Amino acid sequence: MTVKYAKVFLAVGAIASTILALQRDASASDTTIWSGVYTEEQAQRGKKVHAALCTRCHGPRLDGAGQSDMPNSPAIARDPLLRKWDGQPIAALYVLTKATMPPTAAGALSDQEYMDAVAYILKMSRAPTGTAELVPESEALNSIMITLPPER
Ligand code: HEC
Repeated sequence: MTVKYAKVFLAVGAIASTILALQRDASASDTTIWSGVYTEEQAQRGKKVHAALCTRCHGPRLDGAGQSDMPNSPAIARDPLLRKWDGQPIAALYVLTKATMPPTAAGALSDQEYMDAVAYILKMSRAPTGTAELVPESEALNSIMITLPPER
């Protein structure tokens, strides 16, 4: 190898390792719904919200199979939800839920109740529980990404 090519080779190597280091940093701070971002207790509160206001349309398993006299409603857990929201922050799901659900009384719940309802959606999507609750603050919610389940 000539000196000239050796220099280029080293330069490319340096850039590549810088990029790798940056990627490692990014993934270290990237929290997803699979990082344990809500608690069991919060999900249980959310379950009550769903039972009172959501399951008649979205079904008790949140799979869209609600009561037959209710409008046709989408699944809001597991694969159908995760595929649709993959790559978006949990803030987006929270904001949409609060702004549009339940359809005849959007925004009627407290922020905390909407947050708990979203925690239950995560629980029903098999995301693991953690030690801290989800809090209805946009900065926190914007830093938690919805993704498909990680490869095991
Ligand atoms: C009267 C029936 C009804 C009730 C009650 C209801 N929903 Fe919905 N929900 C719908 C329908 C219909 C859609 C689809 C709206 C659309 O796509 O325009 C929807 C959409 C959603 C979505 C977005 C799904 C997606 O992937 O885009 C979420 C999340 C959701 N509902 C959560 C809730 C929660 C939480 C409650 C209870 C607080 C609730 N819904 C109550 C009918 C209902």
